[in-house]
Amino acid sequence: MKVLLIGSGGREHAIYWKILQSSKLEEIYVYPGNGGIQEEHRLRKETYGDLFKDNFLGLKKFILDKEIDLVIVGPEQPLVDGIVDSLQDICLVFGPNQHGARIEGSKSFARSFMDRFGIPSAKFQVFNDFKKAIEYLEEISPPYVIKADGLAAGKGVTVTNDKQEAIQSIKDILENKVFGNYPLLIEEFLPGKEASVFAFCDGEKAIPMKAARDYKRAYDKNQGPNTGGMGSVTPVEYIDSSLMDYIQKEIFDRTIDGFKKLNISYKGILYAGLMIHNHSAKVVEFNCRFGDPEIQALLPLLDEDLLDLCFHAASGTLSKNKSHISFKNLSSMTVVVAAEGYPRSYKKEMDLTNFLKNIPEDLIVFHAGTEYNPETQQYYSNGGRILNITATGSTIDEVRNKIYPFLDQNPIPNTFYRKDIGILY
Ligand code: AMP
Ligand code: GLY
Repeated sequence: MKVLLIGSGGREHAIYWKILQSSKLEEIYVYPGNGGIQEEHRLRKETYGDLFKDNFLGLKKFILDKEIDLVIVGPEQPLVDGIVDSLQDICLVFGPNQHGARIEGSKSFARSFMDRFGIPSAKFQVFNDFKKAIEYLEEISPPYVIKADGLAAGKGVTVTNDKQEAIQSIKDILENKVFGNYPLLIEEFLPGKEASVFAFCDGEKAIPMKAARDYKRAYDKNQGPNTGGMGSVTPVEYIDSSLMDYIQKEIFDRTIDGFKKLNISYKGILYAGLMIHNHSAKVVEFNCRFGDPEIQALLPLLDEDLLDLCFHAASGTLSKNKSHISFKNLSSMTVVVAAEGYPRSYKKEMDLTNFLKNIPEDLIVFHAGTEYNPETQQYYSNGGRILNITATGSTIDEVRNKIYPFLDQNPIPNTFYRKDIGILY
């Protein structure tokens, strides 16, 4: 199979790493990729230009020219922008169409969808008007949950006990429009512990992977601002098989039925961000792609051919061939090394070359915000989340003992990482 992978993060490096192991792979290209992708597989923007411009015109030409069989879309933005609708006449695409991607792209669409199809989630109200939002805030008690109704890279959500902070976030969204011209949602606060479950969907059914957990706050003990995710772990000890059955029936099956009622043939990944409380699960959010960095911890344990799973999901034939996705019965985790200051402002161009020369064999390093200069053969940072250090083992303690001593002894200047990944709060 000839494959084109879209994206440039740690998630995409992990997908690439796993797909390189597939016996069915003939060729792979990654657009635009990062420093972790082999040069001969990369479609650099400097060389190829913006392949998304003019409704993905450059991408279409490339696909036809190279006779690509399957496009795998990593991030949400192109899905929300309709990449699948644009390409589906010329090749198979792993990812939902634009209508399906609204489950992530519009929180109010997602909330109304969950309400309509009886999917357990938080109660909510949508506001366009600043005064009405403030009036509602006065009626409810903390913690307050305020969300911008659009894509905001994990930064459009405020969860706080502080009324002034809640008012400020309402102002930021509705008056200062810091995330764009979006309404906002005020949601019921859900107590509990979080988990992420990703299901492969083929339009007919959703087949979940093992549950994972990410750590969204920037600092130890879940302190500091929300980020895209500072680390991840699997398995999740508070999700057992009976809870997975509940998640399948009450969340994934209902969601796929709902999509069918709306005439959406949802193919690709459905990501359920869950809050687990009293041995039950509610949906905090749906996303339309793999979670980053959760998938970096999951893929090293996946006992399947990822390319095959993506191909069958995109073809609509997965559920005819499979009812379960197999994983090695081990533990795995990923620690994100980020630029000091992330998720706010941070420096770029930290030299990573020496660090990357010394990686022990029992660690896997997925690149996220990195670049490689082929002339000087140097690696340097160009993003907030820079590297993902992953390992597997029989227990999480064993895995922590592989990753942390190495990170502690090989510090990268001007970067930081959480020291408590693997501890389930
Ligand atoms: P979201 O972007 O909707 O996933 O929200 C980001 C993070 O905010 C989630 O991972 C949760 O930690 C927290 N959060 C969002 N909504 C709620 C809620 N209704 N109750 C409690 N915590 C929430
Ligand atoms: N790790 C959270 C996300 O990918 O949205």
